[in-house]
Order: sequence, then structure tokens, then C-alpha cells
Amino acid sequence: MKNIIIAPSMLSADFSDLKKDITMINKSEADWFHLDIMDGVFVPNISYGFPVVKHIKKYAKKPLDVHLMIVQPERYINEWRDVGADILTVHYEACTHLHRTIQQIKTAGMKAGVALNPHTPVSILSDILPEIDMVLIMSVNPGFGGQSFIPQSLKKITLLRAMTNMSNPELTIQVDGGIDLTNYKEIIKAGANALVAGSAVFHSENPTETISMLKK
Ligand code: DX5
Ligand code: ZN
Repeated sequence: MKNIIIAPSMLSADFSDLKKDITMINKSEADWFHLDIMDGVFVPNISYGFPVVKHIKKYAKKPLDVHLMIVQPERYINEWRDVGADILTVHYEACTHLHRTIQQIKTAGMKAGVALNPHTPVSILSDILPEIDMVLIMSVNPGFGGQSFIPQSLKKITLLRAMTNMSNPELTIQVDGGIDLTNYKEIIKAGANALVAGSAVFHSENPTETISMLKK
């Protein structure tokens, strides 16, 4: 089986002491930092922006996986690269010219991901799949941490994995929202190879240990 990528979501970290949580992730078995950027328009919440990401980059020893939940993400591609994004994911629902936006991300030197809201079928990605590095399947409605996993997501993962076998076997399938120690195994079994976990990691007694368990 492929190595499973674990990306703790900093949305659930302690923002009054970010350095402590960055250090914890650096020392843990986690692979990436998952950073959720929300604009209050695409999603009904506002998180954080460039200055916070820039400061996380200063201490992070692992790649920054930036999940943009913003409208018109094409306006800020180079800015995300400049503050340290390694992987940049845009929402399908936020991009009129998705193909162009993907090219912009790759030209800027980052890996390109496309996120799908729970209501968006994976089939709409068939023509863009060969161009991208990652698909992020939202398993909750984006905007908040701590929501429950939507079971229908498992079917989407299975279907997408079957599609990638034909057109992009290297594609990373990331799943985001409501992942915890009770459901991560079935998500991997369905075909995911990257898991985002916010509250399951940061609200647990021992976040480092929870990351190791998700990794197994
Ligand atoms: C939700 C974000 C998620 C969120 C996950 O819109 O994209 O990354 O932080 O949080 P949990 O793991 O608590 O569902
Ligand atoms: Zn996210």
C-alpha cells in the first residue's frame, strides 16, 4: 500500500501559541501542514491570510498544503507562493477558468490541487485530471472544523480512484472534514492517500500520538 499522507489542519491549532503546535507537527509523523484559507464569501467563515501563513512557513519543516476556500483564487496565486505554499488547492466551484488557474499554479512552481464540495460529482474532473497533482474531496461542507463526516464521500473516493487508474495513477486523493480514528481506515480503503484532520488531532489528549495512529 502507498504511504498515507497525514496533514493536520491548523484551523484547530492554538492561535495564541502557534509555535508550540508548529513544533509538535514538525516532530510528529505528520507529512504536511494543512492551511485553510477562508474569505467569508465562498464560505460563511473567515480564517487567516498571508501574514499568518508567512509566519508558519518560518518555523515549519514540512510542506505547506494551502486549501483556498475563496472566490477568484486566480487573483492571488503568486502571493501564496511567496508566503511559502508548496501545494495550492482551489475549489472547482470557485473557478470559471479552472484549466488556466491550474496552469498558473504550476507555472508559479507549486503543486496544483482541485477541491470538490460535497455536492459536486467527481465525474466533472475527467478532463482536468491529467493536469493536476491532487484532488481534495470535501467530506463536510467547507467553512468549519469539527463537523461530521458525510458517508457519501466514500463512494466519491472509490469512483475517483477508479478514474485515476486510467488517466493519472500518481494523483493524490486527499479527504478533508470529519476524519477521526473511527473512520480513517475506511477512507483509506476507499482509495484516499492523504488525510486532513483538524479537531481529531488538536482536540485529542495526545496530538502526536493521534497523528501516529492515523499514519498506521
Ligand atoms: C473545513 C476545512 C477543514 C477543517 C477540518 O472547511 O477545510 O480542513 O479544518 O477540520 P475537522 O478535521 O475538524 O473536520
Ligand atoms: Zn481544508
